[in-house]
Amino acid sequence: MGFTMSVEAFQALRCPLDHETLQREERRWVCSNGHSFDIAKEGYVHLLPVQQKRSKDPGDSKEMVLARRQFLNAGHYQKIADAVVEAVLRDVPQRPLHCLDAGCGEGYYLRELARQTPEGITLFLSGLDISKWAVQAAAKQDSRPSWMVASNANIPVQTNRVDCVLCLFGFPVYAEFARVLKPGGILLMADPGPGHLQQLREVIYPSLRTAPGAEPSCPPGFTELSVETLQHEIVLETPAAIQQLLSMTPHLFRASAEGKERAMALTRLPLNLEISIRRLCRNA
Ligand SMILES: C[S@@+](CC[C@H](N)C(=O)[O-])C[C@H]1O[C@@H](n2cnc3c(N)ncnc32)[C@H](O)[C@@H]1O
Ligand SMILES: [Zn+2]
Repeated sequence: MGFTMSVEAFQALRCPLDHETLQREERRWVCSNGHSFDIAKEGYVHLLPVQQKRSKDPGDSKEMVLARRQFLNAGHYQKIADAVVEAVLRDVPQRPLHCLDAGCGEGYYLRELARQTPEGITLFLSGLDISKWAVQAAAKQDSRPSWMVASNANIPVQTNRVDCVLCLFGFPVYAEFARVLKPGGILLMADPGPGHLQQLREVIYPSLRTAPGAEPSCPPGFTELSVETLQHEIVLETPAAIQQLLSMTPHLFRASAEGKERAMALTRLPLNLEISIRRLCRNA
């Protein structure tokens, strides 16, 4: 399998402790105050200081990461990836293109961006996630981007360096997104709409609760360009796929034992995907 365009590691990182520039050495990143961060054998760097961790093993668990990896790699969310990639390539004119996936999970959307980018375009890619398991899985599947265990609350990236931030089913920290983006840069967000996975929720919850569709307000420092809704129907044809979906969504935690049992007993599940894709421009 050959790669036609060029994917490079994004290099403009900063120390999570004192915000000094990080320099890349052979097997570590170091700042001028002597803080040093080893590069793991899988190729990612841990930039989440203990004192900034809220728990010992924050973010998605190893099991959730594995479930999401299997589900996404099976292509069930291909249409969502296509829409995200198309929006990035259309809305972000800068070449080379510097993109940060903030809350990247196991890296599916950056892999799709790399795979679908036409020849001749250079991508400088970085992905961060607070879950070490997610970042490890991302690094194992594509070693080219800069992968970081880090939090959106303290992004270890220098100010004004990124053309595009992705926040896909994530936990936005707008002040940090605005800081790392260049003026005119794009924040692209994907979030579930009220009808997303409705058939699964009908099975799990005795009385269906529809999420209130409150319009989010535009965060300071940004101008909203558009909000589009992507609608698409998929069919899960195996219990394994249904179980993976359950394991990678918050429904696993919210559902009752009976609700989960009903879902686990299914062998086939048609599903509406309803995703809102929101584009925000970082003000000059
Ligand atoms: C629903 S998953 C989405 C992952 C990926 N964007 C995707 O769509 O496949 C949410 C991710 O956010 C991560 N996360 C939670 N809190 C975070 C934070 N403060 N900073 C960065 N990532 C965080 C979780 O570990 C998890 O991988
Ligand atoms: Zn430092």
